[in-house]
Amino acid sequence: MRIGVLTGGGDCPGLNAAIRGMVHRGVKGFGDVFTGFRDGWRGPLERDAAPLDLEAVDGILPLGGTILGSSRTNPLKTGGGIDRIRENLAALEVDALIAVGGEDTLGVALALHEAGVPVVGVPKTIDNDLSGTDYTFGFDTAVGIAVEAADRLRTTAESHHRTLICEVMGRHAGWIALHSGMASGAAAVLVPERPFDLDEVTAHVEARFQAGHAPVLVVSEGARPVEGSLELQTGERDAFGHVRLGGVGERLAGELERRTGREARSVVLGHLQRGGPPSAFDRVLATRFGLHAVDAVHAGEYGAMVALRGTGIVRVGLAEAVGTLKTVPPERYAEAGVFFG
Ligand code: F6P
Repeated sequence: MRIGVLTGGGDCPGLNAAIRGMVHRGVKGFGDVFTGFRDGWRGPLERDAAPLDLEAVDGILPLGGTILGSSRTNPLKTGGGIDRIRENLAALEVDALIAVGGEDTLGVALALHEAGVPVVGVPKTIDNDLSGTDYTFGFDTAVGIAVEAADRLRTTAESHHRTLICEVMGRHAGWIALHSGMASGAAAVLVPERPFDLDEVTAHVEARFQAGHAPVLVVSEGARPVEGSLELQTGERDAFGHVRLGGVGERLAGELERRTGREARSVVLGHLQRGGPPSAFDRVLATRFGLHAVDAVHAGEYGAMVALRGTGIVRVGLAEAVGTLKTVPPERYAEAGVFFG
């Protein structure tokens, strides 16, 4: 078969490992030929493609980013986008497409599937917010980076008897904050799923100072206060209509400084969480997803997404994966809460 591959949406560590997994499985197992589309959905939309063979994927396993490039191009917003993709796939004699992405990219994959285009999905995102899979690759690496940052912030916070706030990504899901906060022993973790009470947060910060330590807080970029007064948004939206988040850490630092009379500083980790080499966990998960995506193509399971359930790789419907966002459940947040203050 000739299989097309694309990586869409925000990049994350492990994309190259997934591409390498597909090409090895397809070439060695089935004699497949691969076509790599550049920059997410822009590639098939504009017929921007290049051959992808074993040589092209040699040495890419540990590399962050994606050799195919990525974008947030949304073909559903382009008049006749689906038909153009269908025509371009036919012109390039591509039999099936593997789309690697998060909810936006896979939402387009679902629309293509419903329009009769043979497509299989592979889940990726540092946010870990896709339903149907226990984990997405990219998440473990992002959490590792956030934990290292929080550990480093702790030593300088202790020296200066300051509050330090570490703002992490995750969009509308608090998974990165929850895991990195738990792993670094944060004095509080603020997530979008549970609006925070400023009095409570202030009490955690003061309790930490009273115990003779400097508080380090991990705050998700999408966290917001109960009153709805501290969330900062630029108002800018991407092609999928998402508001660009960020700035809550800075606002919170100012407020905590005012309330506690102690210095408070904030750090926005931003794209540091998405760059650089993938963790071993993400390399293995991404590689396995790549292998199983090619198997799904050969099984004719179009409209499916490969997913991690426990330790096994299964196939779930794309509709299940993109239907609802997987957010942090209250019981998981309560576990982290035991250590606040
Ligand atoms: O979805 C991944 C993600 O990194 C989010 O955590 C973040 O809100 C967003 O992408 C940032 O997107 P961009 O790189 O387009 O600014």
